[in-house]
Amino acid sequence: MTTEPLLDIADLVVRFGPVRAVDGVSLQLPPGPYGLALVGESGSGKTTIGRAALRLVNAVGGTIRFEGKIVTKLRGRALKDYRRAAQIVFQDPDNSLDPRMRVGASVAEALAAHRIATGRQARERAGALLAEVGLDPAFVVRYPHQLSGGQRQRVAIARALSVQPRLVVLDEPTSALDVRAQAAILRLIGELRTQRSLSYLLITHNFGIVSELCEQTAVLYLGRIAESGPTGVLLDRPAHPYTRALRSAVPELGAHSRAARVILPGEPPDATKPPPGCVFHPRCPLAIDRCRTEVPVLRPVGAGRMAACHRAEEVLAEAAPAKAAAGGAAPAAAPGAEAAGPMPSASPGSVPASTAGDNPPGSTAAAPQA
Ligand SMILES: Nc1ncnc2c1ncn2[C@@H]1O[C@H](COP(=O)(O)OP(=O)(O)OP(=O)(O)O)[C@@H](O)[C@H]1O
Ligand code: SF4
Ligand SMILES: [Mg+2]
Repeated sequence: MTTEPLLDIADLVVRFGPVRAVDGVSLQLPPGPYGLALVGESGSGKTTIGRAALRLVNAVGGTIRFEGKIVTKLRGRALKDYRRAAQIVFQDPDNSLDPRMRVGASVAEALAAHRIATGRQARERAGALLAEVGLDPAFVVRYPHQLSGGQRQRVAIARALSVQPRLVVLDEPTSALDVRAQAAILRLIGELRTQRSLSYLLITHNFGIVSELCEQTAVLYLGRIAESGPTGVLLDRPAHPYTRALRSAVPELGAHSRAARVILPGEPPDATKPPPGCVFHPRCPLAIDRCRTEVPVLRPVGAGRMAACHRAEEVLAEAAPAKAAAGGAAPAAAPGAEAAGPMPSASPGSVPASTAGDNPPGSTAAAPQA
């Protein structure tokens, strides 16, 4: 990577009692505009990674750097600056908005807390921020319950943006909303990322929303990265059976005529007793004897791509004809781009962030959910 990453997570381990919620995850996020998606089923550790990055939960292993500085070592002024530079938007806007406070006051409060503006100036800024997220500035006098869920989420986003963060963790920002509000919030995130030059971690269990908004995607399973890489090629040609199964569950991505929908048996295993060998083996349609004993290391499997699967090459090879059978709907760039690019120099486990220009969001044919 040529530029220093904005956020650099290395070998992160977070435990809750016997649960290794995050088990050696490395991720890098360059300065914005940039999106990194964290995708995986419930309990895979997505939220914990986001919270650890913001120092809202303690890590027992690994390091998290923001603009080169180790965030767990920040104190005093430097910590305050970090609290301002890194913001989070929750799934449910009601977690970040006080129901007894007018929404303008909520936004103004964030401005005052970080000494950006107070009094009348803060109230005026609050109105301008509401306008920026597509709300009528006159809404400043409303209470949260007088707004729809989508409008409340816009206010939560305005509040997070009010302090001009450089990093935003978006934790399932649309999953509490109806389909129309979801699409509108996703459009808003897309607009803000350019206007604000935002760098964000977009946490979701839905592959359908990442292609337009995230250059890179990391797929998590039981606290570990199963696969990571540029979103376009990862969705087009998964290298891990788990990615393939998740993708096929999204109709607009998986509706290839030949690629039958992969139904995953069962639930993710008990996180307190992860299976031996590959943690995915009890559910994996491709599991072989080796998978039951030998942990697959996360290793390079293409330009900027990593996968933790003994059979990644076979999975990749299988994906190629399926794409051709899709009737040419997808651009042919992905496999070629893989062959052409250099292998990542990053250590195992990291998501190289050097492909920002190579794979802009939207480079896949997949549409976001409407
Ligand atoms: N505060 C906590 N105390 C105990 N265990 C926790 C806590 N937070 C998370 N966990 C456990 O850590 C693991 C990872 O949880 P996390 O919330 O990060 O997953 P997630 O991928 O965000 O899931 P979801 O899609 O349901 O939000 C799970 O096994 C969860 O039960
Ligand atoms: S290592 Fe084996 S069990 Fe694990 S994902 Fe690959 S094929 Fe499946
Ligand atoms: Mg979560």
